[in-house]
Amino acid sequence: MKTDPTTPADLALPPHALEALAARFRGSGLCFAVLRPDGTVAFFDHQAATFFQRFAIPVLSYSECGAQFFGSALPIVSLDGQVNVCQPLPGTIMAAFAYVERKQLHAIITLIGRSESFRLDDNTIHLCQQLGLDGEWLNHEASKMPAFDSSGIQHEARQLSNMLRDQLKLNGLEQEVESLSGQLANTYEELSLIYRLSSGMKVNRSAGEFFKQACLDVMDVIDVRGMGFVLRAESLEHRDPVLYGTTSLPPGAVHRLADQLIGHLKVRKSAVVVNDLKRDPAYQWLAAHAQGMLAVPLQRDEQVLGALFAFDKAASDFDSVDSKLLTSIANESAIYLQNAMLFEDVRGLMMGLLHSLVSAVDAKDAYTCGHSERVALMARELAQIAGLPMATVERVYMAGLLHDVGKIGVPEAVLQKPGKLTTEEFDLMKQHPEIGARILRDVRQLEDVIPGVLYHHERWDGRGYPSKLPGESIPLMGRIICLADCFDAMTSNRTYRRALPFEVAMMEIKNGSGTQFDPTLADAFIRIGEKRLRELTSGHHEQASRLIELHNTTLRVA
Ligand SMILES: [Fe+2]
Ligand SMILES: [Fe+2]
Repeated sequence: MKTDPTTPADLALPPHALEALAARFRGSGLCFAVLRPDGTVAFFDHQAATFFQRFAIPVLSYSECGAQFFGSALPIVSLDGQVNVCQPLPGTIMAAFAYVERKQLHAIITLIGRSESFRLDDNTIHLCQQLGLDGEWLNHEASKMPAFDSSGIQHEARQLSNMLRDQLKLNGLEQEVESLSGQLANTYEELSLIYRLSSGMKVNRSAGEFFKQACLDVMDVIDVRGMGFVLRAESLEHRDPVLYGTTSLPPGAVHRLADQLIGHLKVRKSAVVVNDLKRDPAYQWLAAHAQGMLAVPLQRDEQVLGALFAFDKAASDFDSVDSKLLTSIANESAIYLQNAMLFEDVRGLMMGLLHSLVSAVDAKDAYTCGHSERVALMARELAQIAGLPMATVERVYMAGLLHDVGKIGVPEAVLQKPGKLTTEEFDLMKQHPEIGARILRDVRQLEDVIPGVLYHHERWDGRGYPSKLPGESIPLMGRIICLADCFDAMTSNRTYRRALPFEVAMMEIKNGSGTQFDPTLADAFIRIGEKRLRELTSGHHEQASRLIELHNTTLRVA
């Protein structure tokens, strides 16, 4: 019979609880021990009195003695909750009861004491010889121990049974509380992560920015070495897969992984968990760079729009909790993705319509073809160089596109007049900023670009139109468009003059600084440089020249 106190019987109690029970009965002169169902000793009181330490316990612990004597304890154990008493060793008495759970015997709980009948008889002397003990010494040690009869030890065992039941119950509750608080902590982290993601779901935010933040947040919560994403949504610009964190893959490997994952997830449509990349034939090529991987699809309506993937969890393998969490995040993110795609579609449609409208305006005068687009591009560049926020820069572009939309209400005879305009004609022409503002007033989404449209002909010295606003009272958007508009007017061909060279137009901007133009913005405009301005407008100038040629040919034929 072997003793292995490091492997307790199938008794759901931590070692400290067993020690506490042992200490309680040690005080009554008893030794607490737990046997496995096969009779082997799983736990005994290592601090029990010398009588047990040197005599009873060694007999239990050595198979040649224990099997002979202690084995007899088993038949007396019943599963009916009764405490049974026997005398397995000469001079000792033992109370035992079964620990049963779900009708299965898990352990035999015992209390061993000195029996009233302890004598230094032949059996005891024989055992002493086997253990190398002096019989007289044992007799002396035994005399220091309280003697138990059957009912005495039975009474103690009942108390042990009650304490054990309470302890097990308490232990079960403690485990439940521990598991609940673990679950609660996980759920809290999961919810707060999903909340953070949802609050970042603004469709005008770029997909790259949104998924970068999502990856960094996930890395924080599940503590992984690397986290990345791939998007395969038609209308979104972000096509390249990205990997964040300390996992490093060689060039091209992220693309290879992205292609492989998308192919795999399109078929599987649920999480892929690989905790040992070496052993996975499909992904073992990654084993030199990472140990484990978790990947989930970003899907809406059965369509896989991309994937999230994580490498190497710091503390352990990826488990079902991680997979569930990443799937929840992917599901939330896919909602954003779908909305962002719809937003892109609508934005694309609106921009298409705007360009058509602007082209229609520009087409009223072949000489101004492409003017609005060029003004928009240069105004955007100026806003950028002036350090305006990205969102404002984009609105400036929109204002540039639409700045002359009011010309739709100016007669073509005035717009296309080759010579100088009369005062009346000029008055008609001067109405276009207000007509433009009126057109846009009813389009809620374009309200913020109205200042650029309405005030692009104001002058810094207050001699512009329509409101004669001076200096900084002219809205910033108006001052920006004004510079781009004048520069394009100077560098475009007109019926009555050829285009000015860029360097001459640049000089004009310098000369007009502080009178026609906002001096700070004029400086910024000059900083863009001729080269960049040429790059921005070249395509549009060529297009305009072709149209003018066509226009002149048509006039000649007519
Ligand atoms: Fe204008
Ligand atoms: Fe203009």
